[in-house]
Amino acid sequence: MVALVIASRNEHKVEEMRQLLAGLTIRVLSLGDFPDAPQIEEDGDTFKANALKKARIISKFTNLTTLADDSGLEVDILGGQPGVHSARFAGEHASDGENNAKLLRLMEKVPARDKTARFRCVIALVSPHGVEESVEGTCPGLIIDRPRGNGGFGYDPLFMVPELGQTFAELSSDEKNGISHRGRALQKILPIVQQWLDEGWI
Ligand code: IMP
Repeated sequence: MVALVIASRNEHKVEEMRQLLAGLTIRVLSLGDFPDAPQIEEDGDTFKANALKKARIISKFTNLTTLADDSGLEVDILGGQPGVHSARFAGEHASDGENNAKLLRLMEKVPARDKTARFRCVIALVSPHGVEESVEGTCPGLIIDRPRGNGGFGYDPLFMVPELGQTFAELSSDEKNGISHRGRALQKILPIVQQWLDEGWI
């Protein structure tokens, strides 16, 4: 069976992506299968630049078609921050708890109606021959006052989906995948992966 590499070491993300790719006749590998793969600095100004950088480097390293994502939270009142800096919002090696605490602090005095935000995800697909595609998914929501729920990762406990009245951390992984920025981007990339399979690019 042909293989596709997910250029991530984040097990939460890899698992989310595996579930969404499960319908394709393709072997899904991750960086866990390539312990010597280079560490990549995510120093781009945009999610797209970072996703393409990761996919290009890992595709070259593995000689396999590679899917890479870059994602983060954009809070309107903070001018789109933390954005591409989501993972290191509270400092270079900040934990999810530290990043969430910083966000709560910054939002303390903001009225509820101004707490609009969205998660954004760009997924890049790069073949070893140098063919490239990228797609984007977003999910709108509101930042709440205190963490709710134990699922997911990152900012999930502070991100409320208004139509559901629940945070991402209160949803099952299937429910989250159905509406999340990453789920939406993956739904867009799936037909492209299928097309590449059909055309023999993978
Ligand atoms: P990256 O795409 O691995 O660079 O992720 C950037 C950061 O964005 C993560 O470390 C999280 O803080 C945040 N993030 C991205 N996607 C999600 C999500 O689905 N839930 C919560 N936080 C997320």
